[in-house]
Amino acid sequence: MKLLTTGAFVRASRSARLSLRYRASSNNTYYLGIRLASRVARAKLPEEFSIESSRPDQRHDSQATEGQITLEEQDDSKSAFKRALEAQQTLNKVITQSGFSGVKFRNAAFVFDETSNLSPSILDLVGRNLYDIPNHPICITRKLIESVFAQPEFINHVAPKPAVSTRLNFDVLGFPEDHPGRSRTDTYYIDSSSVLRTHTSAHQHAAFKHMKNIEQTGYTICADVYRRDSIDRSHFPVFHQMEGAKLWQLQPHPTEKLTRYQMLKNRRSQMSQDIEKLPKHGLEIIDEAGTFDPKTNPIQAEHDHPEVRMMATHLKRSLELLVNRIFSAAKEAGVGNPNAQDEPLKIRWIEAYFPFTSPSWELEVWWQGEWLELLGCGIVQQPILNEAGLSDRVAWAWGIGVERLAMLLFGIPDIRLFWSTDKRFLDQFHEGKVTKFEPFSKYPACYKDIAFWINAAPAGATPLTAKPDSGLAAAAGGDATKALPSETVPSAFHENDMMEILRDIGGSLIEDVKLLEEFVHPKSGRKSLCYRINYRSLERTLTNEEVNQLHNEVASRMSSELGIELR
Ligand code: DAH
Repeated sequence: MKLLTTGAFVRASRSARLSLRYRASSNNTYYLGIRLASRVARAKLPEEFSIESSRPDQRHDSQATEGQITLEEQDDSKSAFKRALEAQQTLNKVITQSGFSGVKFRNAAFVFDETSNLSPSILDLVGRNLYDIPNHPICITRKLIESVFAQPEFINHVAPKPAVSTRLNFDVLGFPEDHPGRSRTDTYYIDSSSVLRTHTSAHQHAAFKHMKNIEQTGYTICADVYRRDSIDRSHFPVFHQMEGAKLWQLQPHPTEKLTRYQMLKNRRSQMSQDIEKLPKHGLEIIDEAGTFDPKTNPIQAEHDHPEVRMMATHLKRSLELLVNRIFSAAKEAGVGNPNAQDEPLKIRWIEAYFPFTSPSWELEVWWQGEWLELLGCGIVQQPILNEAGLSDRVAWAWGIGVERLAMLLFGIPDIRLFWSTDKRFLDQFHEGKVTKFEPFSKYPACYKDIAFWINAAPAGATPLTAKPDSGLAAAAGGDATKALPSETVPSAFHENDMMEILRDIGGSLIEDVKLLEEFVHPKSGRKSLCYRINYRSLERTLTNEEVNQLHNEVASRMSSELGIELR
């Protein structure tokens, strides 16, 4: 599962990862990204705060108005449509009227522009809030994670409003302008300055600002996140993430005036007490990232090295305790390899890259014979805290994919099951309990192939700078790991656009889609691709007729919408 795509495009190879980090820190793209974005954006955009605490007495609600159109700039008919949209009762549905289309989410109404790429199938999944349904495995997993990062030290938020500004999703977090995550092929754009959040880190800024006046020293956030992606048993365009952070503040003395050095000493001693308080565990740990290589995983220039070492110890131990809790629960429920029941759990730390942390790490667990990536984490980039008004604090943060953990915990084999409304699935789970999932049946699969020619498109334009009618909207694919080796010119076809059509037509009736064959015609230089689409329902047997009908619709929409030629 591509859990952590913010770092994923540099994960393709270690050297690529290192070169990106070098670029991010050496030419200041990252710091510039934050400063420029905030200077421009702050003047015209009110601040967003759309996280909610899971404790009703600490709930906090205000309109997220970033990303809405500025009325003065719009002609009358567009503003009239926007007003009509705002008055709408219906949420999460495309509304079309007098030549305009738009959607109203819980946070706000948005008029589509040429950047919008939302599909009805994705909107149908918005607002299900699985993390809030007590007997649902997503909610049970969330609560288990929250029990490790619990009150009174941590405040536990949920974020029910899925629309966020590009500023909060990318800019504030230091994403370079050309980060593939920003691409329209990878991200659902509501309009040119708003997206369906691609990760819970989009709420980091709001959560940090909220820390200013509360007594907790850390937080967690749980939310549904959205990514245009491939189709298989571990990918779904909506999934859940949790994000956590812990902060330490320079403590002034109530009566005496302390020097900065004294305050720093006090903060260090607070850190060391906090480490002492963490319970011990019996996990076997391989730490391949125990030192801080200034080239590959640098400590930030403004940070104090002993503090960073202590935060790293605290962060790693806290997450090891989380993994211990999760996997003990899975073992107790009898999930996993029964022969491995008595083996100690093995985990390892490796270096990673995220635009918003440095140093950064990933934690992997040895599970059923392979290393499995579980989460990303690191020391929060200081400009992010400064931007939130917390220049007197330092912090660690982590982000984790909830489905991956839930699949391991409950032994759920297919990510589509989380969205099932079948009682045979839902009735198996109970609040606060981890139980092994019993498959109710496996219905037969039926595969169909589709082969087509694609056209090459000029290189250079990114999806967001391309003119809407230039035919490049689907070009400049965002995910560098998907670039095919034989490709010298980026093609006008991006796999994720096909996946989107497939989801629209087949919904959860498509189990996976694989590239079977790829070749370039020796004379014309055109490229041909052939994909195999595996149709299978989780709930019933599909008839041949039904599958043929779906597949014909796929072929006809692909040829009319993707500029391809069927073979
Ligand atoms: N937001 C990251 C992603 O989706 C995950 C992540 C990694 C979050 C590291 C964090 C962090 O807060 O420190 O790729």
